Amino acid sequence: MATITEPQQDFTILPELPADVFTAPLQKPAHVGDDWVEPAQTAYTSEDNQIWDDLFARQMNILPGRAATAFMEGLEKLDLGRGGVPEFGKLSEELGTLTGWSVIPVPMLIPDHVFFWHLANRRFPAGNFIRTRETFEYIQEPDVFHDVFGHVPMLTDPVFADYMQEYGRAGWKAMRYNRLKALGSLYWYTVEFGLIEEAPGDIRAYGAGILSGPTEVVFATQAKSPNRIMLNVDRVMRTDYVISDLQPTYFVIESFEDLYRQTVERDFDRLYRNLAPGFTYANSAVIDVDYVLNRGTQEYLLRGGRGSGAEPV
Ligand SMILES: [Fe+2]
Repeated sequence: MATITEPQQDFTILPELPADVFTAPLQKPAHVGDDWVEPAQTAYTSEDNQIWDDLFARQMNILPGRAATAFMEGLEKLDLGRGGVPEFGKLSEELGTLTGWSVIPVPMLIPDHVFFWHLANRRFPAGNFIRTRETFEYIQEPDVFHDVFGHVPMLTDPVFADYMQEYGRAGWKAMRYNRLKALGSLYWYTVEFGLIEEAPGDIRAYGAGILSGPTEVVFATQAKSPNRIMLNVDRVMRTDYVISDLQPTYFVIESFEDLYRQTVERDFDRLYRNLAPGFTYANSAVIDVDYVLNRGTQEYLLRGGRGSGAEPV
């Protein structure tokens, strides 16, 4: 295969999405521009603010001892439990002084190339809406609680904040090689569903998909079903993932420095040239090269997972 040469990128400019690159077909609402940013943050009702407070209280009953120390410290630094949905302007000011990141309101999931551009410029796009009482227990679309409670505390950690920016920058190359699925897998198994071993046997969650809900925090860190495997970027980028159920496998890092190093030092040109177009490994697979912390029983998956009434054990 021919080598694709990477021109010096100007990450401040919104990248063009190459015509042959598949990304989720999202309909841009008429009121947002090419940056997909909403004109203003939603004016939340008192019921919306109460939902935030109730979600916050629920998570605080579950997270101590299970969430990464960096996440718990981030919650405190930003005082996300001060009452009601945080105001993005004030949040951005506080986050800005810590790590230079800001939080911007977007209406929904946004296209990959726009998402990469915002991350590469240390802007975190957060869903403007909040779930209702009917969807209190589980919502698949990322709302403001998932995005702000789940993601923003980790952006107070200087090394993780740099990792997120590098992830955004990596999007340019993934688009050139048409390997967005592979890069998406890395996001999934780190930013959304990542675990960290803070001390031998002390596994904590730092992924927002885990930390913003009540069930997966316990399942990911303590249940017998899932595999817990030390992160290897090459292996993760070849691994399929499930978006509508608990994960059969979690990948564990030893530190955020290690995650950052593994990513920025990776020769992604070489990796992308050698990747199969689809995923090589099923999401429950354990393979020869894996450094396995816990081999899961997969009992939850084998009993049928979500919708079957299987216990998340
Ligand atoms: Fe997320």
